[in-house]
Amino acid sequence: PVLVVDFGAQYAQLIARRVREANVYSEIVPHTITAAEVAAKEPAGIVLSGGPSSVYEPGSPSLDPGILELGVPVLGICYGFQVMAQQLGGEVANTGLREYGATDMTVTGDGGSLLSGQPEAQTVWMSHGDSVAKAPEGFEVLASSASTPVAAFASDERKMYGVQWHPEVKHSEFGQRVLENFLHRAAGIPSDWNSGNVIAEQVERIREQVGTGRVIVGLSGGVDSAVAAAIVHKAVGDQLTAIFVDHGLLRQDERRQVEEDYVASTGVRLVTVDAADQFLDALAGVTDPETKRKIIGREFIRSFEDAASALVAEAASDGEPIKFLVQGTLYPDVVESGGGTGTANIKSHHNVGGLPEDLQFELVEPLRTLFKDEVRAIGRELGLPEVIVSRQPFPGPGLGIRIVGEVTRDRLDLLRKADAIARAELTAAGLDSEIWQCPVVLLADVRSVGVQGDGRTYGHPIVLRPVSSEDAMTADWTRLPYDVLARISNRITNEVAGVNRVVLDVTSKPPGTIEWE
Ligand code: XMP
Repeated sequence: PVLVVDFGAQYAQLIARRVREANVYSEIVPHTITAAEVAAKEPAGIVLSGGPSSVYEPGSPSLDPGILELGVPVLGICYGFQVMAQQLGGEVANTGLREYGATDMTVTGDGGSLLSGQPEAQTVWMSHGDSVAKAPEGFEVLASSASTPVAAFASDERKMYGVQWHPEVKHSEFGQRVLENFLHRAAGIPSDWNSGNVIAEQVERIREQVGTGRVIVGLSGGVDSAVAAAIVHKAVGDQLTAIFVDHGLLRQDERRQVEEDYVASTGVRLVTVDAADQFLDALAGVTDPETKRKIIGREFIRSFEDAASALVAEAASDGEPIKFLVQGTLYPDVVESGGGTGTANIKSHHNVGGLPEDLQFELVEPLRTLFKDEVRAIGRELGLPEVIVSRQPFPGPGLGIRIVGEVTRDRLDLLRKADAIARAELTAAGLDSEIWQCPVVLLADVRSVGVQGDGRTYGHPIVLRPVSSEDAMTADWTRLPYDVLARISNRITNEVAGVNRVVLDVTSKPPGTIEWE
């Protein structure tokens, strides 16, 4: 692999993704990793990430100097560039000149391969206070900007390279080419990592782990569980059984997409649990958002557990017990929970609310090394329905937390219609890729006066909450074209009885969350 050494903040994940976009497998490791640990991983290259610190701050993250002696090609980025300069005998200075944002830069050398084929004048994304004042001995200076005389350096002989700017950021015009030059030319790593290989590799691993054992998986209708289940099915066929809990809080057509389209395209054996009545009974009279979430989580585990126990009992009676549970854990969760191997850290709001208590399963996690966009690519490669592969995030508690007020069957039906209209119009307008997700919310406890035909109405508002985001941690409201908003509003107020107003949520996150409850 290529190791991306993490010096903090979110930079390392982005670099790791860009390396993979160059079809090279990458792994994120903490900056506390030792040279021996690095050597044991036999990396083909090392990228040192940026980070929020200054090399002068006491306690700022450092790097085992032995790592730069391993003879593995290294690319240092921003903070990583400065750490490299410092350790190799160059000079880092606090010049008091900060550079932040798009910066004009001049390329003065190609460093053998790092900047070859690049225009002399280009715009790069900078974000730093300290600067490299002097390159280490034997290093060639490759670029400069107005306030940074040493913006890049290289020793092609030692296969050591560094850049002050952030090539992983799209605002750096030729950023991806810098990474590709480092990977393919400087380090000589072939581009042979792709979704096809990942599938083949995972299939082999799963077969090895599972043997002839039986496996269950909870499908939520979302991308991760769908792709995880499809890979496991490809590996062990009908040793896998999928459980899909229909809690009655799904959107229009979602159950059919799982039961028909997904099953038809994968051949996965599916058990659906019809639990809508059970969930609605448990939610009767409840309006507090946290209480709703707790009830939905609890009922979910209960339904899943009942279905799993029945399958376990059945399997035990024919001699091949169910020993494994598939989880759709992704790489960012693994990195954020401290990385490493072993039991997954299951998020409290994970769709499969937790492991059934008295059933012990070994986890199968085929997506543990993957980013979300890679999971989608693999889903496509496996021939999954596009509606599932490109599905926007949808919370586990479903429409239950998109009705402000008590959740009832009628209100769910109403919201399902409004949501389906909004989604159809956004898709038709080609806006899906711009929108991270667009919750449609029913304010069931609010009524307002309207007029329709000859009569006065007293109906409920529907809120549209389109947001743009990278990771749902922060978000901005999406500036949708007025004509699209007008069409959605017209259709919802005309076609959904009980709704006489459509309003737009224009709040970023923070301070608002994406969901209303
Ligand atoms: P908020 O509302 O906290 O949402 O800004 C952030 C992201 O998480 C999703 N979300 C959930 N997902 N179970 C889930 O699986 C939940 O209980 C849950 N609550 C929020 C939300 O849709 C958004 O993508």
